[in-house]
Parts: sequence; structure tokens; C-alpha cells
Amino acid sequence: MAISKKMIAFAAQSSWIRKMFEEGVRLRAEHGAENVFDFSLGNPDLPPPVQFDAALQEAIAEAESGAHSYMPNSGYPAVRTAVARQISREQGMTLSLDEVLMTVGAAGGLNVVLKALLDPGDEVIILAPFFVEYNFYVDNHGGISKIVNTKKADFSLDLDAIAAAIGPQTKALIVNSPNNPSGQIYAAAELAELGEILNKAPQTIYLIADEPYRKIVYDHHLVPSVFKAYRHSLVVSSYSKDLSLPGERIGYIAVQPEITGKAQLINVMTMANRILGFVNAPAMIQRVVGKMQGVTVDTAIYARRRDLFCQVLRAASYQFVSPKGAFYIFPQSPLADDTRFIGLLAQQRILGVPGCGFGMTGYFRLAFCVEDDLITRSAVGFKAAMLAAESAGT
Ligand SMILES: Cc1ncc(COP(=O)(O)O)c(C=O)c1O
Repeated sequence: MAISKKMIAFAAQSSWIRKMFEEGVRLRAEHGAENVFDFSLGNPDLPPPVQFDAALQEAIAEAESGAHSYMPNSGYPAVRTAVARQISREQGMTLSLDEVLMTVGAAGGLNVVLKALLDPGDEVIILAPFFVEYNFYVDNHGGISKIVNTKKADFSLDLDAIAAAIGPQTKALIVNSPNNPSGQIYAAAELAELGEILNKAPQTIYLIADEPYRKIVYDHHLVPSVFKAYRHSLVVSSYSKDLSLPGERIGYIAVQPEITGKAQLINVMTMANRILGFVNAPAMIQRVVGKMQGVTVDTAIYARRRDLFCQVLRAASYQFVSPKGAFYIFPQSPLADDTRFIGLLAQQRILGVPGCGFGMTGYFRLAFCVEDDLITRSAVGFKAAMLAAESAGT
């Protein structure tokens, strides 16, 4: 076959997403859309905040000649200045526009960072459970993923395991907090200790903080600053989740202001943005998000759904850690084989994603970017699936 064998294998590995999508189509056709409980997708269902329409109108009204032209590969200076101001508030450290680069979502940003950092054979530590695309992004740039589990009790950092995984080839570590799929937020003390561990390595190890869920937090939790915890850190984020704009593909990279070799790093990332084929982040939506700094979707809606989902799962005797942020729950699978349990859920017309899709078997992920009513009505199915699992044994 002429096409890449590696890509064929990758497509087979990530077939869970396609499988659940196809299962959803089949179940909806058979039972009607209202009778399918699809919790498989992390696609925000809330509309963008009300400020979005006004910001868009304003951006259109202000558009001058050249508004749709090529621009500096790092993005509009005015937008980067506005983003730098907001990140300075979030990270408790002053950033300027020179420390910010606009990207094609967080996905684009992660690829730019990895392209800029990795030489062939460099290792990137990834913490399980993880956003499934990390492995592919690392491979895109010749790197090798080294998987380290978080602690099973609460998905907090296993610092000893991280320290043990560091070797001469380690170039970077990716943390994602609030986490997809666990909903965990790493505490300031954990990050500080992680910073100390990374500092002990003879080579520079970069800490890449993937933070698209930073503003989706519950019970007044705050996401601590990675910039304060560690000098060689970069934040990658987007407006996909907190402004409900995933299809617009807009995000950014910010670098810790005191990172060594900063000018060269920014220069190389700007080049990576160009040669990966992004060229620059989309013009119009850059100008729109530049006007929406500090604005977030109504997270009280997600908080209400999280509470509802926790009630439904508790009533059916599932074991889980209540998420502190993001919009996912990652309960334990009542069967050791999580894909088999996903099959039992599908018999109840409930769609979730098995933990093996996130590098951690024995769990499953439920996304709550769906109407409250869907969560409430799924209670009967969750109980029935638990009973079926109990009679199937482990
Ligand atoms: C943890 C994590 N990182 C990155 C992304 C990619 O986000 P974006 O749409 O901004 O590219 C996602 C999307 O679901 C995610 O969950």
C-alpha cells in the first residue's frame, strides 16, 4: 500500500472516537436523537458569551484595508498585547506582547512548541490519563512519548514516578490542568515540587502547560501559576472551551518571561507557526478575542451539570473523583475491561469513551457538555449498566 503505514496504524489506534461517533449515528437512527445519551464528545454546547456578537460586529466595523492580509507570523501586536495583559493577571507575572504568540487553537500551539523544542529521539513525558492527541503531536516532530501515570486515588501528580522517568533524552513534560479527562487541578505545592525535580536535571527540561480549561473551574478552585513554579515553562491555551469557539481555531502560546534563550525560542516558534503551514492564526477571530479578554462562558451551567452527573453516578454506586475543573468525569469502570463496560453502557444507549483511549484502562470518560435533561434521564441506564456489570463479574 502506498500511504504511510505509520498513519494507518495511528488511524487504527484512535479509532475509538470514530467508533463512538458511528455508534451514536446508529443509535440515533434506531431510537431517535432524544433517546441517545451521548457523553462521548468534549464539544462545548454552550453558545459563546453575549459579548461575542458585539466584538465580532466591532471587528467588522473597524476592518480597514489590509484587515484580511498576511500579518506577522506571531499575530497582531495589539491582540498579543491584550492577551499578554490577561496572562499576566492569571500567572501573577508581567508579560509583554513579545512573550505571546497567537496560534491555531491549543492543538496548533502544542505542535508549534514541540516543533520548536524537539530533535529526533528527544523524549516528552506525558501524564496518564492524557488528551489522546499528545502522542501524535510528539511523534509529528520526531519525539518519543514517555508515559507516566498520575496517582490512581485522585489523579494528582506522582512526583516520584516523574523523577524516575527523567533521563538524558528528556526534553519536555506536558501537564494539563484542569485535566481532560480527570478534572484534576494540580496544586501550587505539587507544581513547585515538580519545578524542583525538573531543575535537578543536568539539561533544560521544558514544562509545557496545556491550559484550555483554565477558566472552567468549580467550587472557587483556582489554577496555580506554572510560571511561578518553574522558569523554563510555556503555557499553551485557546478560546475553544472558555469562549465556546472550538471551530474558530484560535489560541496562543505564552513563555515564562525569564526563560533562558527567550528571543531564540520565540523566533523559532514563530518560524514553526509559519512552516507547519499555519502561517498565522486566523485574522478576524484574533481581533475578536483580543476584545474579549477576561470574558468566559457561564461556568455555573457546567457546575450545575457536574453536580447533576455526580448525583446520577453516586445513586448508581459508581466510584469517581468529583472534577475540580473542565467538563469531564472519569469514573472507575465496574469491569476491569473498560471497553467491555462501554459496550454495556451502549446497550443502555449511553455513549462514553473507555479509559484506554486516555492511556489509563479501568476507567471511562463522560463529557457533560450536554443539556441537564440528558444527564437526568440517563440515570436509569447507568443503574442498569452497573447491574449488568455486577452480574457479569469483573
Ligand atoms: C487537554 C486538551 N488540550 C488541547 C485541546 C485542543 O484544543 P483546541 O481546540 O484549542 O485546539 C483539547 C481539546 O479538546 C484538550 O482537551
